[in-house]
Amino acid sequence: MTDPLARLAPVVRLAPAKLNLTLAVIGRRRDGFHDLHTVMVQLGLADRLSLAVVPVERGGADTLHVDGLDAGPVADNLALRAVAEARQAVGRGWPGGPGPTPSLSLRLDKRIPVAAGLAGGSSDAAAALDGAVEAWGAELDPERRHAAAARLGSDVPFFLAGGAALVQGRGERVDRLRGVAGSPGVLLVTPAVAVSTPQVFAAFAARGGRGNGSVRMTSEHLAGELAGGLRTSDLVARAGVLAPANDLLAAAVDVLPGLLPFRRALFRVLRQPVGLSGSGPTLWTLYSSEDEAAAAAATVRDALAAGAIPSLGSGEPAVHATTILEGAAR
Ligand code: C5P
Repeated sequence: MTDPLARLAPVVRLAPAKLNLTLAVIGRRRDGFHDLHTVMVQLGLADRLSLAVVPVERGGADTLHVDGLDAGPVADNLALRAVAEARQAVGRGWPGGPGPTPSLSLRLDKRIPVAAGLAGGSSDAAAALDGAVEAWGAELDPERRHAAAARLGSDVPFFLAGGAALVQGRGERVDRLRGVAGSPGVLLVTPAVAVSTPQVFAAFAARGGRGNGSVRMTSEHLAGELAGGLRTSDLVARAGVLAPANDLLAAAVDVLPGLLPFRRALFRVLRQPVGLSGSGPTLWTLYSSEDEAAAAAATVRDALAAGAIPSLGSGEPAVHATTILEGAAR
């Protein structure tokens, strides 16, 4: 007997990058993580993940093939762990049961820079969790889905919720916000050097482990405004307040001192406030449209070619013009 699932087309998911418009660190928790207050949005820049059911008679483990950017060892990839979490959470009660859910063959087209503060790996994991459940034709109630996402990583629950959100706690408290009307343009400049998030949080702790109260106020204020909805022009007008509103900025510079002159040079070239996403090293500037962001990208590429931006890391930075997504909930 052939497996009915094997005839189905693969499930395909876009896994968007995220941007922290604000990031306040409230304090260290007993579990070693930090409580955050951060406004996050999803971007047009996305990885693409497909998941196909492997016919039961072929069996074997889940597999992952990665095209595009180097995402590190496949065995460590969070997307594979997400499928394992999904299988555990679904259990044996799936439509094709009574046995465990079949293996999946994953293909990932990696476009989001890795270890860059854009949470590409976490987004892939959310897409894999969600896509695996769909590929099996299974059901997973929202609580179990959320718990599985939180086990995978602090940023994963945000991606399950989609859209713009206020994210608190370690990352598990996600409140959807109405967000920004329109499609603000975003320029992302990612130096060619991976930055380790645990290292940045450790540097933050070594600095005394206290966030700046004004960053938290900015974050709370923005969350309030985005709950009601902002126009693109209103968001862009706030860029000067948002760009410094990241408590991890100084700690990221401790870990990667070259980030400071790099950020200053970007400001000189673009004449726009330059923010840091997450623990970095990706830097961002905001625009009214993707076209304006693309023009800024061209300016940055020219400046790099002219040597007006200092080199940092092992090569040219990645330069992306993209947009903030309005986004629908998964
Ligand atoms: O949860 P995730 O694996 O993405 O976190 C990576 C690291 O970042 C953690 O090991 C921890 O050092 C730090 N972290 C934190 N507080 C958070 C999120 C991450 O201290 N809220």
